[in-house]
Order: sequence, then C-alpha cells, then structure tokens
Amino acid sequence: CRVRNYKFDVVMRNTSRLCSSKQIVTVNGKFPGPTLYAREDDNVLVRVVNHVKYNVSIHWHGVRQLRTGWSDGPAFITQCPIQPGQSYLYNFTLTGQRGTLLWHAHILWLRATVHGAIVILPKRGVPYPFPKPHKEIPIVLAEWWKSDTEAVINEALKSGLAPNVSDAHTINGHPGPASNCSLQGGFTLPVDAGKTYLLRIINAALNEELFFKIAGHKLTVVEVDALYVKPFSIETIVIAPGQTTNVLVTADKNSGKYLVTASPFMDAPIAVDNATATATLHYTGTLSNSPTTITIPPPKNATQIANKFTDSLRSINSNTFPAKVPLTIDHKLLFTVGLGVNPCPSCKAGNGSRVVASINNVTFVMPTTALLQAHYFNIKGVFTTDFPPNPPTIFNFTGSPPSNMATMTGTKVYKLSYNDTVELVMQDTGIIAPENHPVHLHGFNFFVVGRGLGNYNAKNDSKSFNLVDPVERNTVGVPAGGWVAIRFRADNPGVWFMHCHLEVHTTWGLKMAFLVDNGKGPNQSLLPPPTDLPKC
Ligand code: C2O
Repeated sequence: CRVRNYKFDVVMRNTSRLCSSKQIVTVNGKFPGPTLYAREDDNVLVRVVNHVKYNVSIHWHGVRQLRTGWSDGPAFITQCPIQPGQSYLYNFTLTGQRGTLLWHAHILWLRATVHGAIVILPKRGVPYPFPKPHKEIPIVLAEWWKSDTEAVINEALKSGLAPNVSDAHTINGHPGPASNCSLQGGFTLPVDAGKTYLLRIINAALNEELFFKIAGHKLTVVEVDALYVKPFSIETIVIAPGQTTNVLVTADKNSGKYLVTASPFMDAPIAVDNATATATLHYTGTLSNSPTTITIPPPKNATQIANKFTDSLRSINSNTFPAKVPLTIDHKLLFTVGLGVNPCPSCKAGNGSRVVASINNVTFVMPTTALLQAHYFNIKGVFTTDFPPNPPTIFNFTGSPPSNMATMTGTKVYKLSYNDTVELVMQDTGIIAPENHPVHLHGFNFFVVGRGLGNYNAKNDSKSFNLVDPVERNTVGVPAGGWVAIRFRADNPGVWFMHCHLEVHTTWGLKMAFLVDNGKGPNQSLLPPPTDLPKC
C-alpha cells in the first residue's frame, strides 16, 4: 500500500455559470473540486489549508475511519473547525474499502460548492467483479445558485424556512446545453463505438434527490456507496444526496450525440425546483453540429421509477464478497424521523413558530466543543447519553398525526459497546414534506434489510427482512410516508454522526450521534488525537 499525499487549498474563486459570475468557496479553485484517487488499503494524507474567511472542515463521506474518527470531519462532532489561516492534516487508511465515494465540506452549507469525488481502485492486480471498462469517468451532480450561497444559508438559518431553490442542477459543474444560458456548453462525455465505460456517479447536491439517465443507452448498475451489487440493467437510476452509484454504459451505437439528464425526484412543495441538468454523450467522429438524440426526464413524482431502481439493489454475497449481516441483535431501535413546527417567539418569519426537524422528537443542538474531544478527554456537560431508543409517543402514520409534534432540544447521543449489533428502523412521520430523508451514518456501512410504506409493524414486517443478500450502503432513503430497517455492527470506536443528507433538514435538527466505546482487545481503541487537531 502507498501513501497518497494531497493538498487542499480552500480559496475563493470567481466562477461563472448561467451567464453570470460570482465568488464561491472552492478547493484549489475548482468546481467541482479535485478528484482524490487511491487504492484499497492506501494511507491518505490530505493537508487542508483554510485561506477563506469562513471556518472549514472536510468529511470523507463513506470512508470508515477505523479508529481515526479525528479525521472524519463533521464540525463540532469529531473536530473543531479549521479557522481562517489555519490548516489540518487529515490522515486515514482505506482499510478494505474500494469504490466511489465523495468528500465535502461538513460545516453549515459550504458543501454547496466544496465537494468532489473519491475514487478508490481495488488493490493492484485485483479485478472488478465485472468486465474491465475501457475508461472510468466520475460524474458529480450538484446545484448552482445565482445569488450568494452565504445569503441563502443565512436566510434559512434565521427564518427556519426553506432556502431559495437552486437556479440549476449541474453535471460535473455545468447546468448543460439545455439550460437557459446556452452560451456555456456543458459537460461532454466522449465515447468510442463498441467500448464500455464505468461512470462513477455522485450526488453532491444539498437538497435534491435526482434521477439520472442517458438517451438510448441502458445503465448496468454494479456498485452503490462503494459496495458491489449484483449487476442489473435499468434505464433510470435515482440517487440521493450523499449516495454514489457506479454504472457500466456500453457505447452500442455507431455514432451520434445523446442527451444525459439529471432531474429532481419528489420535491417538497415548498421548494419546487424543476431544473434539469444536461450533458452530452458524444461518439468519437460525430460532427459537433449534428443533432442530439434527446430523452425526457421522468416526472418528478415518478415514485415507481425510483422504486424499480431501489428494489433491484442486492449485495453480491459470494465467497469473495460475503454479506455479513448481523443475525443476532443487541439493540433494537425505532427512530421517527421528520419535520415539525415548534414555537419560536423570536422568529421573524412563520408567525412565531418555526420549522424544526427531529429524531424521536429530539431536535439535536450542535455543541460548541467537538463531541469526540469531550468523549476522549472526558469533558463533562457537552452531551448526554440519553438519546431515546423509541419514540416518546407511539406514532401512527395512517391515523391522526401524533399529538406530540413538539420537540425537545438537546445534544443527546446513543451509547453502544464495541461490537454491539444494532437494528435500527427509521419511520418517516411524513407530515410536511413528501420526500425521502436520505439518512447518512458516519463510520459504518449498514445492510438495508427491509423497507415499506405506512407504519412499521415489528411483528409482521420483521418476518420479511432480507438477511441473505440485502444491499449494503452508508446513506439510505427513509421513504416518504414509510420506514426502512438497517443493521450494522458497532466495530468502530468513536463518536459517529447520523443525519439527513438534505442539508436544510440537518440545519433544522434532523441529526444525532452514536457513541461507540473502545473494545478490550488489541486494535479496538480510538487512536489518540493528532497534535494539530483544530481548537475551538
Ligand atoms: Cu456526507 Cu455527515 O455527511
């Protein structure tokens, strides 16, 4: 294994999209940011230098950070932010991991423009479990705001109202040829007839689950969240913020240009965004002025198209890639996830109440000392360990909304012993927004053993859990008006954030953390903090 050295300079850069330009926060001046390449088991060192006026931290989304929680990145969870003029060396090893992940800023909404791909190749000489592609291309989906992102952010924080909807979605940084401003051409994917390509698709958008498709070409799905799946072929994939999907595309036409689209799935009515990002698949030798074969993106409420994709996901579960689903469970947890309204006399908007989000009616309050530091140095008063394992009132989705919509605030964590097994059912309360909550767990991958609509019924629904070849991932959609069940083993000591990856919901409080104690054996303890760990 090698050591991979990277330097991420966080700098402002004047960037123009949609026929106008503005200053944005970037890594190394790029939007999207640079791709981080490594191989399985490599040691990655990234020096992040903060040259902007904002506090910064970077998260390596999906990297397990075994015993190295100090490098995980979420501000005030595992580290204090890197202050202007300061730097921090993230140091982690990609133990047993390969595939596509993403890195992004993990403080406020900076990840709107501060994000990029992580490509982890298998160990040298180890093949993929599918035919070797001719070329591999990262495809980063995101958003663009014409107005100042900081202003958008501050407004949402102040009012508790939805942020201004983005003005465009982007594919590798560009809204594309079908956008209102056609002066900027968009991303082009050159292909040779007859060859097969691996697209490493990443959704780095703040608040939009997206459909992705290519006119006239099928997509063969081979991996999600850096974990191989049984290959299947499909026209349209759906991908939530924080998720990644690898697909094979065979250039099975002779020539031509084909439209690639990324379009929203299931917007909340309060944030209606219809913008479709486009790119072009371009066969070598096709004249640039020849017409493009188009495709119509799915309607944004095309739940069946989304379900067709989600229901097809299975882990490989072979001798080489066994699915190690925990079969005995130490902690059975039921979390309601959702939005509510809380009184807020000081709020300007919303008639003295504001939108909040919660898990089991706890609206998580960010601490001012990082939780991991408080845990490691035994600093009292930063968090409590009384995160409720069950909802405070029995939730009934089909009946009247739960009478207790009000939330309590707190910095509560749920405590696990090393190697404990967890079954977590997340029930959407679906009162306000008809959209999935893509919940991301730091520090672990988990198996998605079940999923359904309506109320979760422990007795009946658990009978149909897939404990053989469920898909394994790090971010899962809690279906709007339904539930999802996941299982994982707490084999990574530290403090691990779990939150909705729709940034606006995280801001409102849809987040919590698991605290995993050290084990007693060798290599079962959190490593000591690095000496340059930022101070609060
Ligand atoms: Cu990709 Cu906690 O985030």
